[in-house]
Amino acid sequence: MVKIDLGGCASFEKDADYKEYVDKALKAFDVLEAETGAGNDFLGWKTLPVDIPESLIREFEEIQADWKAKGVDLAVVIGIGGSYLGARCAIEALSHNFAKQLRKPGDAPEVVFAGNNLSEEYLAELMDLMAERNCACIVISKSGTTTEPAVAFRIVKKFIEERYGRKEAAERIVAVTDAKKGALKTLATQEGYKSYVVPDNVGGRYSVLTPVGLLPILIAGFNVRAMLAGAAETREVLKVKGEDNAAVQYAAMRNALYSVYGKSTEILVTYNPKFFYLAEWWKQLYGESEGKELKGIYPASVTNTADLHSMGQFIQEGSRIMFETVVTSKTSSRSVVIESDPQNLDCLNYLAGQHVEHCNAMAQLGTKLAHIDGGVPQMEVSVEKIDEYNLGSLFYFFEFACGVSAYTLGINPFNQPGVEAYKKNMFALLRKPGFEEQTAAILKRIGE
Ligand code: PA5
Repeated sequence: MVKIDLGGCASFEKDADYKEYVDKALKAFDVLEAETGAGNDFLGWKTLPVDIPESLIREFEEIQADWKAKGVDLAVVIGIGGSYLGARCAIEALSHNFAKQLRKPGDAPEVVFAGNNLSEEYLAELMDLMAERNCACIVISKSGTTTEPAVAFRIVKKFIEERYGRKEAAERIVAVTDAKKGALKTLATQEGYKSYVVPDNVGGRYSVLTPVGLLPILIAGFNVRAMLAGAAETREVLKVKGEDNAAVQYAAMRNALYSVYGKSTEILVTYNPKFFYLAEWWKQLYGESEGKELKGIYPASVTNTADLHSMGQFIQEGSRIMFETVVTSKTSSRSVVIESDPQNLDCLNYLAGQHVEHCNAMAQLGTKLAHIDGGVPQMEVSVEKIDEYNLGSLFYFFEFACGVSAYTLGINPFNQPGVEAYKKNMFALLRKPGFEEQTAAILKRIGE
């Protein structure tokens, strides 16, 4: 279960400033819970942890069993943004760091991702991999019309159909999309794919606990029931209004740091490479939810200790625009102790008998103190360990806190109007039918 520690911000804020923002966050909490705020038709995520039926998970297990019987060892998961990052975050966090290199026959399929870029090399190299492996595909797009996953799916679909035949391909492809509309829904119906729904009232970046995240995470071999349980228990705690509510505290502190103290960048800091994609998921959640109307805290991230040797200099002494939120797991699931060495040529005998994780913890504490001295406030969000239950808890905590925080800032957290700008230009440049006028205008603008 998620816990929050605001101690590293104490020397930066006057109590009255924090208190003012706690009051604002409590009002925002009411708006979120009463469902009276902007975008309140996108609040389905709040009760997802208890709404997901057991029968749906059993259906996913049937797909898993069916693919296992076929010997599938590679699942290509196609999607972008909210239709990608949650699954990747969970799978990377829960997998062995060297799962790929240690693969054995009978293991859950390796999950690889596509449709999250338009790199020709990436897709060509994906085909190289698929040619060597026994493949299936999960294609995910809520709208069913997003260009990047649509391009990837056209290529992957053709490959699977040529390799296995169209009938067998229909058993190796599963779609996750809108209940009724969109090109992907039409295609899935026509080809006879199993198809699962992204609920209308859940936006992409809040969809990890729908089939968007749950199906790929289960196919990768992880326990989605435990993940839902972690989210459900966190919901029970966070729905209780109060100054000690962790989501209220997080929302209040980050808004006070931003609005009163001009801290316009929040760096999500992790000390475990397994959390790399947690930061990527969090950046999308907060960036797309709050970065509007010329407002919002810019979400950035570092993975320490690696980034202490790159971004550490800037964070310590560069422009004083940032605060940090450190996400940690309190315990390591593995044990590695540094042993004494008779020659001690590396001069590390002073660490003999210590766990490597102790060194990591001291690096973290030393960094916290140095950054506070350097003018960087720090919050800590922690879980006991990295497992399905605690990831579910983190997902729910950050989603709920995002709703509270955006309403505290006076922003609708559930739309993303700015994402359309690049798409309009790209369609005009690609000469998409219907964009003729924009094509003429953009060609003139770039002098062609
Ligand atoms: O959060 C969002 O809504 C976006 O990031 C979408 O998830 C992303 O654009 C993908 O959209 P779709 O699932 O419709 O393909």
